[in-house]
Amino acid sequence: MDGGGAERWSAVADEWSSFWGSLARPVWSPLIEHAGVGQGTRVLDVGCGTGELLAHLAGLGARPAGVDPAPEMRAHARVRVPTAEVRDGHAEHLPFPDAGADVVVAVNALQFAGDVLAALAEMSRVLAPGGAVAVANWAEGARNDLDVVERAVAAAHDDEVPPDGELRQPGGLETALGEAGLEVVAAGLTPTPWRAPDDDALVRGILFGEDPSTMAELAPVLVDAARPFRTADGGYVLQNAFRWAVARTVA
Ligand SMILES: C[S@@+](CC[C@H](N)C(=O)[O-])C[C@H]1O[C@@H](n2cnc3c(N)ncnc32)[C@H](O)[C@@H]1O
Repeated sequence: MDGGGAERWSAVADEWSSFWGSLARPVWSPLIEHAGVGQGTRVLDVGCGTGELLAHLAGLGARPAGVDPAPEMRAHARVRVPTAEVRDGHAEHLPFPDAGADVVVAVNALQFAGDVLAALAEMSRVLAPGGAVAVANWAEGARNDLDVVERAVAAAHDDEVPPDGELRQPGGLETALGEAGLEVVAAGLTPTPWRAPDDDALVRGILFGEDPSTMAELAPVLVDAARPFRTADGGYVLQNAFRWAVARTVA
C-alpha cells in the first residue's frame, strides 16, 4: 500500500495489527541501543501505527508517546498501551512542544511524510538537547522477497510496483538526516522476515485493503508467486530487510 491517507490506513488497521505490526521488531533493538533508550526515557513514536513499538518501549520502562494521523491505528495503539499518550498528527506538524522528547523514532513511517526534511525538522524541534532521532524503513526492493510477489500481483493488472524511494537506497536515510542538520551516529541493514502460516494468511496479509472480489482474483497469482518461499509445513517465510539510522542534534 502507498502512503495513502488517514482513512486508508484506518480501513486496514485490524489487518496491519494482525499481519504487519511486529514486522520491524528486529530493528527495534539497534534503534533503542544506539539512541540510548532506557528507564524513564521520553520517546515519541512518529507514525506509531497500531502501537507494537510503544508497548515494547513501555515494557523497557521508557515513557513512550505516539502520533499518527489514522484514527483506527491510534485506537489500536491506545488499547495496546493505555499509559501512552497517542495524539492525532502528521510528522510534518507534530502536536508536541519543543524539547519534550529524549528520543524520536519513526519506523516504516517517515517515507509517508509529504516533505521528509520538514518532518525531520519537526522531529528535531521536539527533541531535548542531546536527544536522538532513530528512523527505519524498508530496504530497496531487490532485498525483499515481498517485492517478488508484489511484482507478480501488479503484473496481473498490467501494473508495476513503484520505484524505490530514496530513503530505501543504501545511504538514503543517512543523507536525509544529514541534510536535516543531524549527525548520524549509527546505521545498518537488518533482516526483517515476514511469516504467514498458510495460504489464507499469505493472501490476507499481502492483499489487505483489496475488496473481496479482487482478493479472490489475485489469490492464485499470489500463491503461485510465493511458491519459492513456501516452507515444509505449508507456511511461507519471505526474507526482507530494513535500513535504519540513528542521528543526534549537532550542538
Ligand atoms: C506502514 S505503517 C507503520 C506503523 C508502525 N510504525 C509500524 O512499524 O508498524 C505507517 C503509519 O504511518 C502513518 N502515517 C502516514 N502518513 C503519515 C505522516 N505524514 N506522518 C506520520 N505518520 C503517518 C500511517 O497512518 C500508519 O499508521
